[in-house]
Amino acid sequence: MQPFNFDEIIDRTKSHCEKWDKYQGKDIIPAWVADMDFKSPPAIIKALQERAEHGVFGYSAIDDETLQTIVDFIKRHYDWEIEKEWLVFTHGVVSSMNIAALCVKGESVATTTPIYPHFIKAPKFAGKEIIAITMKEENNRWSIDFERLEETITPTCKLFMLCNPYNPGGTVFTREELERLATLCVKHDMVICSDEIHADLILNPSAKHIPIASLHEAIAKRSITLMAPSKTFNIAGLQASFAIIPNDSLRRTFTQTMGSMVGGINLLGITAMKAAYQHGDAWLEALRVYLRENLALVQAFVAKNPKLKLLNQEATFLAWIDASALHVKSPYTFFLDFGVGLSDGTPFGDANFIRLNFGTQRAILMTILERMQNAMDSLKD
Ligand SMILES: Cc1ncc(COP(=O)(O)O)c(C=O)c1O
Repeated sequence: MQPFNFDEIIDRTKSHCEKWDKYQGKDIIPAWVADMDFKSPPAIIKALQERAEHGVFGYSAIDDETLQTIVDFIKRHYDWEIEKEWLVFTHGVVSSMNIAALCVKGESVATTTPIYPHFIKAPKFAGKEIIAITMKEENNRWSIDFERLEETITPTCKLFMLCNPYNPGGTVFTREELERLATLCVKHDMVICSDEIHADLILNPSAKHIPIASLHEAIAKRSITLMAPSKTFNIAGLQASFAIIPNDSLRRTFTQTMGSMVGGINLLGITAMKAAYQHGDAWLEALRVYLRENLALVQAFVAKNPKLKLLNQEATFLAWIDASALHVKSPYTFFLDFGVGLSDGTPFGDANFIRLNFGTQRAILMTILERMQNAMDSLKD
């Protein structure tokens, strides 16, 4: 018996909600931006209520107990021993990606594609060239094309931006893959900025998240690891995230680049983060069970529609579906016309794909899949 009710439907309209406001007044179910339709864990809600009751919301500060809570969470979940001093707080992982792209020297930045659009936007904003290596399909899973990466990297490329677990596609990189990438970074004297925001959302029970910086000292000292409780506990609107930078000099460069462009962390964000990391483990475990069952429904839907394709999705609540066999101009608008607002693959780098956010109540997901089936059936005549 699950102690948490993920089936409870929450009306998110009129709640300053980007996901649902987009299609306000239209019969379109949103399944795009990466937040979930669930309430956050009760411990977070309680902590926020208590903090709101306090009634004073001045500038924030992070206390030692919160720092220790983060250190403990990372040790408990990833067996990685970090130090409090390594933590740098920002309002979001995207801010940190931009700071990383700005602060690391070099004329170009390497990453993989298709990818979460800010991996391309951040280096561009920093005035850097982008070396984008297309992900390859291997053993029914999206993986890094290391040969291509090795061939393409140039001496002026001093930063690799990794997304692990991968968005979109849900790959959880193995120790071997991460070691190979780490070796490459050391060899080419590159810093690695590893966005691990989806780390807690591993759905494949035999996959394990390994922070690349935890591999060994040589990669740790050239790493900027980005984490947050935002995706995991559905608190993206509270804007609290952190970078873990073990190397003093790199950390100094990062914070100097940040300067006063990024102000103090959101007060309610700190409150929620502390409660999540202290008391959220049981909720998180139950969430993963629920998401796994949702993923199974998505997989079953794709299996009965041979014109759609979904590789082995190991993590995240975002299914990356290849719709190229539909031969429609835009798979995104094709499904939109049947009342489902998916993410368009175009900004990720492949217009033939759509991304389905299945972090929603089972009943809503069933309606989404029914509507998508209607769209598929319309092609059969
Ligand atoms: C890989 C990845 N990084 C970063 C973000 C956004 O992070 P934040 O809201 O903390 O800026 C997302 C949101 O979808 C994401 O998928």
